[in-house]
Amino acid sequence: MNKILNKISQGMYILTTKNGGCCVDSVSQISSGDNPLIAVAVMKGNYTNKLMKENNTFALSIIGTNTDTSVIKTYGMNSSKDYNKFENSDTIVIDNLHIIKNSLGYIICDKVNAIENETHTLFIGKVIKSELYKDDEPMTYQYYQNHKEDLINIELSNGEKAWICTICGYIYYGDNLPDDYKCPICKVDKNLFKLK
Ligand SMILES: Cc1cc2nc3c(=O)[nH]c(=O)nc-3n(C[C@H](O)[C@H](O)[C@H](O)COP(=O)(O)O)c2cc1C
Repeated sequence: MNKILNKISQGMYILTTKNGGCCVDSVSQISSGDNPLIAVAVMKGNYTNKLMKENNTFALSIIGTNTDTSVIKTYGMNSSKDYNKFENSDTIVIDNLHIIKNSLGYIICDKVNAIENETHTLFIGKVIKSELYKDDEPMTYQYYQNHKEDLINIELSNGEKAWICTICGYIYYGDNLPDDYKCPICKVDKNLFKLK
């Protein structure tokens, strides 16, 4: 991947809709005004993609550098298909949507469009409600990249080994990565994992 793409500024968010959600960085404000438009790209393989298609509203909780970063692991490294992320994080419910409690705040959108691409669906939403809880520093994707090993907090029991994906921070626990292993999050090969 061309390194210049890392120079495009992205933030860190928890996207939620009814019955689930995931961690996202592919978010842009694409218009301003009273009801700005927001675009969020969700991988087709993610369970959240299916949920976003079934529902007409979604929320983005904005992660700050002081937010409890366990939400990145909870929402970004598990699937709502077989794991209840809401039971495993501190949320408050606003307009039937789960919002991360110690985030900087949230925006709630009505879904107005969904554009299919090869790997992702680009969902476009119109902001209908928003609230700033804390006027703190938002976390950038670059910050996450620079601090991911600390933010993810890898816990190893005696003799256990962990391999960390140098691209997205996903952790594989085990002595060796299988030969044909690919990161379940960002799909890169095993040679981009390093031993913790
Ligand atoms: C730092 C980080 C950024 C991510 N950004 C995105 C993103 O922009 N879009 C996306 O679809 N998935 C993104 N992911 C991956 C999903 O959060 C992840 O695959 C999640 O487990 C999907 O859960 P689900 O199956 O419940 O939808 C990101 C993960 C991490 C850790």
